[in-house]
Amino acid sequence: MKDLIKALTEAYGPPGYEQAVREIIREQISTVADSVEIDPLGNLHAVKKGAGEGLKIMLAAHMDEIGLMVSYVSDKGFARFTKLGAVWPDTLIGNRALFTNGALGVINVENWPRHDGVDHSHKSLYLDFGATGKADIPVRVGDVAAFQRPFVDLGQVMVAKSLDDRIGCAILVETLKQLDQTPHELHFVFTVQEEVGTRGAMTAAYKVHPDVSIAIDVTDSGDVPERKHFEVKLGAGPAIKVMDSGMLAHPGLKNWMVETAQANDIPYQMEILTLGSTDAQAMQLAREGSAAGALSIPCRHIHTPSEMVSTNDVENAVKLLLALLKSPANLGD
Ligand code: CO
Ligand code: ZN
Repeated sequence: MKDLIKALTEAYGPPGYEQAVREIIREQISTVADSVEIDPLGNLHAVKKGAGEGLKIMLAAHMDEIGLMVSYVSDKGFARFTKLGAVWPDTLIGNRALFTNGALGVINVENWPRHDGVDHSHKSLYLDFGATGKADIPVRVGDVAAFQRPFVDLGQVMVAKSLDDRIGCAILVETLKQLDQTPHELHFVFTVQEEVGTRGAMTAAYKVHPDVSIAIDVTDSGDVPERKHFEVKLGAGPAIKVMDSGMLAHPGLKNWMVETAQANDIPYQMEILTLGSTDAQAMQLAREGSAAGALSIPCRHIHTPSEMVSTNDVENAVKLLLALLKSPANLGD
């Protein structure tokens, strides 16, 4: 699974440009799903038909990652940019932006070196391609970049860019591969444009029209210096979402996940996130609505080029999903 995680996290896939990620996943799942198709927005939609009288369950993980778009090119050959998704300026100095055409830009702030902290806006940041002017700058207005950083396996933990949410993609691929039987009709959807507002999940959920929907995505991790009052920590198991700033999880679905984890001796934690949301927000509100929830992977340093997750948490997320999808749904009344 780590080879797949390395390939997925090193792939280029800012919002709207998820093709490379989609190809990796499609190759992995084409022989294990009953059908695989790509919808007009670019979501990859795989169906696994069940044998029983189960529910229609949609599982979503997003393929896109945060990125940048060139908004202005100066006569001296530097580029200004706007952000795609929640990109924090503090994470950008010295960072490298990789473009579809292979161009690589180094990011810095005006008037470097400065020691008074970073201006908290993108207005003072720029991209440097080593160009001498407009004639030889390798990008133009509208070109899109993602961050460049290799995957590192540290054993207990893995570090990479875009673990948000390639780790969710890897977990769904692994779950689909290992799932031998299910009573449900399962729709595995690898979505586009989550980071700019859960857009892929919105249209995919309309098409699938699920009874139950579950997002697999990262969540914050509270076990870092001075991060207060956040319970979730790395290595204590996948987190079952109770609520975030975009969704209240369906209580019956949340309980079904908790009971399944307990019955199978799988470690888990409860997640309440007050900043941020997932594809479940869009799936919950599609058409007349669905029973929505999320399984979250605790992740340190979210939306930086060095996100970190626990290998055990990832393995336990696969176990929990497998146990859940093999069992009849118990959503309460
Ligand atoms: Co994100
Ligand atoms: Zn995410």
